[in-house]
Amino acid sequence: MMGARKIAIINVGLSGCLPVVRAHDARGACNDGVNELAAGFNGALKFFLADLAPRLPGLAYSLADGFAHRQALIANPQAAGFVNATSACCGSGRLGGEGGCLPTSNICGDSDGYVYWDWDKVDVATANRGHKAFGIVGDRPVTFPKELKVEAK
Ligand SMILES: *[C@@H]1O[C@H](CO)[C@@H](O)[C@H](O)[C@H]1NC(C)=O
Repeated sequence: MMGARKIAIINVGLSGCLPVVRAHDARGACNDGVNELAAGFNGALKFFLADLAPRLPGLAYSLADGFAHRQALIANPQAAGFVNATSACCGSGRLGGEGGCLPTSNICGDSDGYVYWDWDKVDVATANRGHKAFGIVGDRPVTFPKELKVEAK
């Protein structure tokens, strides 16, 4: 039987800290409930893969912990070279999280310094940090149980 033998997955990120979610909080804080849902899904995903692997001989998978990576980034954005980990670079309203990125939106000066590009997506600079952390470019991987670079070869 043929099928997927090698799969690489990045789990769900810190959804409760997206500007579109933070904009609904009076203090602009992350929504713990939304983050707990994401963490719950990620736990189930990890369990599902660990359960599936022994039943599919030849299956090799990499599960990158995007959630933990984003948590570390938001806890200490400066360490990763970011200046702004709360607001969208392009958007409108509170934290740039009340409207999507449109031609009429406010745009930050240097998007590379922003973790979030718009209300519901990270910036390309953030995605690149993730790729680097997950071993796609190199550096220290935060993957389980195999590094993604192993699968990319
Ligand atoms: C993030 O950017 C927004 C708008 O671009 C600004 O209002 C806010 O003060 C910035 N936060 C930090 C921590 O620099």
